[in-house]
Amino acid sequence: MASTLAGLPLLILLLVSVIASAQVSQAARKWLPLAADGIHDPKNPSLRLLQEPAESLSRLPADTAGNQVHWLQALEGGAINPRTNILPGTQVMVIDLDIYLNMKGGTPIVRFPHRAHTLWLDCSNCHQHLFVSKAGANKLSMNAMLNGEQCGVCHGAVAFPLTECNRCHNTPRNKPLPAGALRGL
Ligand code: HEC
Ligand code: HEC
Ligand code: HEC
Repeated sequence: MASTLAGLPLLILLLVSVIASAQVSQAARKWLPLAADGIHDPKNPSLRLLQEPAESLSRLPADTAGNQVHWLQALEGGAINPRTNILPGTQVMVIDLDIYLNMKGGTPIVRFPHRAHTLWLDCSNCHQHLFVSKAGANKLSMNAMLNGEQCGVCHGAVAFPLTECNRCHNTPRNKPLPAGALRGL
């Protein structure tokens, strides 16, 4: 109990700081030029051969966070059509299975959609090293996510950031879940 309470101020501090940075990123939809992104060498003459993010990403459905693209809409709407496999033998599997998480917390319930994930990912990206594939078998924590674990392995790194609370905490607690809904912890 004591250790749980000791962790709480840190969690609140982290949440306040991520919420503050979310407001900054929502100000405008713009991207740094490659020469100023701190990753590419501005003196490299072949830099001009690369497409600028502002040119490519501005054509994709807008989002207010991360790299300002709503990637799921881009995929489902056909704006992008990424290759699913390189080797012909690789089996691609998309499953439509929702699991409701955070069943005991005070914030809205989290609906975890397998479909939105398996459109991009393989089962082995998550099972079994990040999550055991059994509803209710994983003890998740927002604190761990903010430390880059669990959902935070991707959210904030390659998928929409943890500042987008409502995209995960998307299911009200005061209404019944769909019949037969799978529940985690
Ligand atoms: C990538 C999905 C995701 C995002 C984004 C996210 N959360 Fe969570 N959050 C979860 C999951 C899953 C749990 C369940 C962990 C558990 O059982 O305690 C959780 C648990 C929590 C909890 C503890 C349980 C409760 O409801 O009291 C709090 C507080 C919380 N989140 C707040 C936030 C806030 C505030 C934000 C935005 C700054 C946020 N979360 C963004 C997935 C997310
Ligand atoms: C992005 C991560 C992720 C990917 C990718 C993923 N899963 Fe899951 N899976 C989860 C999470 C999270 C749970 C819920 C665990 C919990 O409730 O503790 C889960 C639960 C499950 C369950 C349990 C359902 C039940 O009835 O208890 C099965 C089965 C499953 N996944 C199969 C798959 C298969 C098959 C694939 C690939 C086609 C896949 N998953 C891809 C994260 C993922
Ligand atoms: C292995 C990487 C990975 C992990 C782990 C992961 N996600 Fe995701 N998630 C993605 C990607 C990629 C997308 C789609 C791109 C985007 O929306 O940024 C996505 C999208 C989503 C969406 C958006 C669905 C929609 O309809 O808009 C939700 C909700 C979500 N994730 C919740 C979670 C929760 C909750 C967890 C932890 C239980 C989790 N994710 C773990 C990679 C991951």
